[in-house]
Amino acid sequence: MAQLEVTDFTQAVIDRMAECQDPRFKQVMTALVKHAHAFAREVDLTPDEWMAAIQFLTAAGQKCDEKRQEFILLSDTLGMSMLVVAMEQERGARALKDKPGEAPTEATVQGPFFWPGAPKLELGADIGEGQGEPAYYFGRVTDTFGKPLANCEVDVWSGDGDGFYDMQKGDQMSLRAQFRTDQDGNYRFWSIKPAFYPVPDDGPVGGMLRRMGRHPNRPGHMHMMLNAAGHERLVTHIFVKDSPYLDSDAVFGVRNSLVIDFPKHAPGKAPDGRNMAKPYYTAKYDFRLVPTAA
Ligand code: BEZ
Ligand code: FE
Repeated sequence: MAQLEVTDFTQAVIDRMAECQDPRFKQVMTALVKHAHAFAREVDLTPDEWMAAIQFLTAAGQKCDEKRQEFILLSDTLGMSMLVVAMEQERGARALKDKPGEAPTEATVQGPFFWPGAPKLELGADIGEGQGEPAYYFGRVTDTFGKPLANCEVDVWSGDGDGFYDMQKGDQMSLRAQFRTDQDGNYRFWSIKPAFYPVPDDGPVGGMLRRMGRHPNRPGHMHMMLNAAGHERLVTHIFVKDSPYLDSDAVFGVRNSLVIDFPKHAPGKAPDGRNMAKPYYTAKYDFRLVPTAA
């Protein structure tokens, strides 16, 4: 019988994985055990504190249902989601180094409000009517060599003018759609100028944020997910340049290259010929996707 002392537990757990057949899983679990044990030692963790952590994670799990994902929120607010996204982007940049072509569009967090199966609509459709200040979104999707990508699936979703997503309000989808780019890689649709909003903070993660002395807000943004055959999927946002919280996004998702002006226009003829009775905004953004072979 071998009694383990404080200094022995980490290696003992790692040694028990001797028979593990999956090298990547073993690598990840070894590092996880090392860092978790080092964390406990660093903060001199007490049993009561560890039990509080377990209760917090239990409450986070109990808060989850089909529409509420407290663990994504936890990952997002601790910067973990964005760290993983940014590392993936760097990995991609290294692979493309010394290859011709432009840098791809930057990615950011997907967040917990993606709802698969949004209505497939014709280019130019209005998905925001009456839900906020109208905004016309348009631009082009190309690959990193500038070749236009026709028939690229463009999924879009956002909160309403008060910052609430359809999922938070009920069972009715709104302010989300799937479009397909035209022959020249162009997309266009009407929605609203998105407002800043708090991430859901009525659960354990909200409690954690308050205890950390943090606000829960995200700057205004439109979510976009692009899928084109033969290209890497892109999950990103367009951020509103004059929005509050660009410097302190609760989920650390802001990338400078994704922040754009939303110029305001007087009532009149919009770029798609539509006659606007009230003021509206425009948001132009071009996307560059990475060919899979690259
Ligand atoms: C969002 O932008 O929808 C979001 C992202 C992370 C956490 C909560 C919401
Ligand atoms: Fe969002």
